[in-house]
Amino acid sequence: MTPDRYIETGTLYGASARMASELFRTVETIELSKVMAADAAQRLFCYPNVTVFQGASGDVLPSIDADEPCVFYLDAHGCKEINTAGQGHTGLWDELEYLARREQPDDLVIVDDFHAFGGGADGPNPFWADTTETNILKALGRAKRCGVFGDQFAASCRNG
Ligand SMILES: C[S@@+](CC[C@H](N)C(=O)[O-])C[C@H]1O[C@@H](n2cnc3c(N)ncnc32)[C@H](O)[C@@H]1O
Repeated sequence: MTPDRYIETGTLYGASARMASELFRTVETIELSKVMAADAAQRLFCYPNVTVFQGASGDVLPSIDADEPCVFYLDAHGCKEINTAGQGHTGLWDELEYLARREQPDDLVIVDDFHAFGGGADGPNPFWADTTETNILKALGRAKRCGVFGDQFAASCRNG
């Protein structure tokens, strides 16, 4: 079954959520910063299939009733943009812990910023050093590597 539901972490201005709104039936996007979440909700108001949640991705993800295969786009981490939150941290490991518990073999997991994997390429944020393909697949448990597409690393939750 091909997922037609897209769940994103890290909304920022809502650019990726807006793009996804044209490709998926339902788009949910989670933003930690109250200011950015409110701003994105306004920007995305005219996209009726998009919902913006405010909170930490690791807390909000389990509260979304996603009992169907989904595309997860993981992009929640500290960044330099004004009014953003989570500086110096990433929500990735809490998100992967949640995803590892899901029993949806048709989930597709996409992690943004492949260029920064392993550290060094994206400023002083320490979390990139641990963000590697190996660690992501290990955290997901049963997932298999799909590949790298542009700046995104993709893994399928379908075994072998
Ligand atoms: C790189 S930006 C996201 C860019 C966006 N996906 C796009 O492509 O347009 C990262 C965003 O994640 C948010 N953030 C940081 N930690 C978070 C967390 N634990 N949960 C949710 N959002 C978080 C930041 O406030 C920032 O807005």
